[in-house]
Amino acid sequence: MFTRKGFVGAFALALVGCSFITAVEAAGDPGSHAFGSPATQAQIAGWNLDVLPSGAGLPSGSGTPAEGSKLYAAQCAACHGAEGQGIPVPGHGVFPRLVGGIGTIATDAPAKTVGSFWPYATGLFDYIRRAMPFTKPQSLSSDQVYALTAFILAKNGIIPDDAVINAQTLQAVKMPNRDGFYSRLAPETDNIAAYSITGP
Ligand code: HEC
Repeated sequence: MFTRKGFVGAFALALVGCSFITAVEAAGDPGSHAFGSPATQAQIAGWNLDVLPSGAGLPSGSGTPAEGSKLYAAQCAACHGAEGQGIPVPGHGVFPRLVGGIGTIATDAPAKTVGSFWPYATGLFDYIRRAMPFTKPQSLSSDQVYALTAFILAKNGIIPDDAVINAQTLQAVKMPNRDGFYSRLAPETDNIAAYSITGP
């Protein structure tokens, strides 16, 4: 068993170890802990991509469905279908359908698409910028992502074909399923009893 004395001894040894490491670091020993370098602003910016439902984090730039249509045909249609209908991949499921299904979510045959299911248009920008095209994520400019977002929204009939999508207009778009979600109970920390198996 781990006695109190043994524990104190181990703790003391650990302390000695810590001060030894600190001493080596202070000496600037290049053979030990001399790895890595501070992240540059450009590297941090590359990871700092979040766009919130409110639109916070959207970059400047803009795009139209017509511009997006060309990009979509060249970079997206091979997987998502020319009309956004999705493409089955035998043995591997399906490349997702992006268009249609609006009004089906609460039925017995829900067709979940960006248009029918997603609650915030801003999430579409975030997703495309972060993850698509599947084989070359984060290769698109902000204008291109706005244009593709505009194209998919227009294809779903959510915005007019002549809309211009930018940070202001995108956050004003109300998705058809926006009110189809509800908040769960208060966070666990505020309502432990509700999540406890045995009760409080
Ligand atoms: C090589 C195939 C491929 C290409 C090209 C591609 N995608 Fe995708 N896309 C996928 C796959 C696979 C998923 C599902 C990924 C997952 O669920 O993790 C997906 C998911 C998506 C989704 C989310 C769908 C949902 O309902 O969850 C969107 C939006 C999307 N792609 C847009 C695009 C756009 C815009 C382009 C072109 C710039 C593009 N994709 C190019 C394969 C592709």
